Amino acid sequence: MDNINIQQTFSTVLGQKPEIIVRAPGRINLIGEHTDYNAGYVLPGAIDKAIWFAASKRTDQALHFYAADLEESFTSENGEVIFQREKTWANYLLGVISEARKDGIQPGGINVVFGSDIPLGAGLSSSAALESGVLFLLNELYQLGLSRMDIVKLAQRGENEFVGMKCGIMDMFASVMGRENHVVRLDCRNLQYDYFPFDAPDVSLVLCDSGVKHALVDSEYNTRRTECEEGLRILQSLDDSIQSLRDVTPEFLSRHAARLSPIVLQRCTYVVEEIRRVEQACEALMHNDMTSLGKLMYETHEGLQHNYQVSCPEMDFLVEEARKNPAVLGARMMGGGFGGCTINLVKKEAVPGFIAQMQAAYLEKYQLNLKTYPVQLTNGTEVLNGRR
Ligand code: GLA
Repeated sequence: MDNINIQQTFSTVLGQKPEIIVRAPGRINLIGEHTDYNAGYVLPGAIDKAIWFAASKRTDQALHFYAADLEESFTSENGEVIFQREKTWANYLLGVISEARKDGIQPGGINVVFGSDIPLGAGLSSSAALESGVLFLLNELYQLGLSRMDIVKLAQRGENEFVGMKCGIMDMFASVMGRENHVVRLDCRNLQYDYFPFDAPDVSLVLCDSGVKHALVDSEYNTRRTECEEGLRILQSLDDSIQSLRDVTPEFLSRHAARLSPIVLQRCTYVVEEIRRVEQACEALMHNDMTSLGKLMYETHEGLQHNYQVSCPEMDFLVEEARKNPAVLGARMMGGGFGGCTINLVKKEAVPGFIAQMQAAYLEKYQLNLKTYPVQLTNGTEVLNGRR
């Protein structure tokens, strides 16, 4: 899918030209996993895989969506927003409209055609791109006056309240706020952010898609959140200046370890360590020290595998295989877990060899063809036909 294709599809389906074309990218996260909902830091970026929207206003209140890749449409004739059991993709679009209305924001009717080259189920946040992308185009078409950060927050609410996944803010933030050749450090405590150049000429980011999406992803994710909240409650009862796991030092945690159940202690240990790793990773990036960054990525994987327990055998295998290659500086599972991609920091000249090695190993171990995606960091959500 691209700019031209989505315009043509719109014209074919609706017999008119779209008013606006929007690109809403997927995201990677260099480091800082499961830290967003613990008021820590994350270090994501938008990528050159995206959802493309073509859209125009309607004169009535109807909401009309066409998912080009699935060749499915959904229409709400009177603009009413009701959870869809059959067409789950529609809930990402309806959810943000529902949340916007709660804030008194009332966009009118809309025709939207969208298509994507973000691989589904790969943990690259196609749902966040869908949610924030549709809000972005409504904001443009109906001049709703929303800032980019308003869009990010509304998109998260749509997913939390309407879809029921208690995700943090990282995915929408990365999709909307990305910048070409940069990652962005977001402080999830106060939503302040800084861009860090990531344009080292000699290293590349390569994703290896395990091709698995284990069941119960959402429920396990929500359970991790609850476990972190339980840990926080106990630690707060010992020191009322603690507002989130961000405020907990490793020393404080180990001093009071006996107060927490073994599982909750493991979860909190991971989060407290990971928040510090992001700070160290930014330090490394500022000095273009890719070796240290890579080491931190390996440490993150170990934490996610053993303490946070959100990895899976396929992703552990991919990280172990990557580790054998001296041209790989760092590798780890990326995103929420239980499937999806690993992210690998690889010396540029060694990328073809790395891909061949990983594909051969995955085929032998799992009889599966491993998909790999070298990624570029791009701008966040943008209008492509000259409006802004
Ligand atoms: C998912 C969630 C994010 C974040 C990551 C883990 O992608 O949507 O908010 O919590 O998992 O870092």
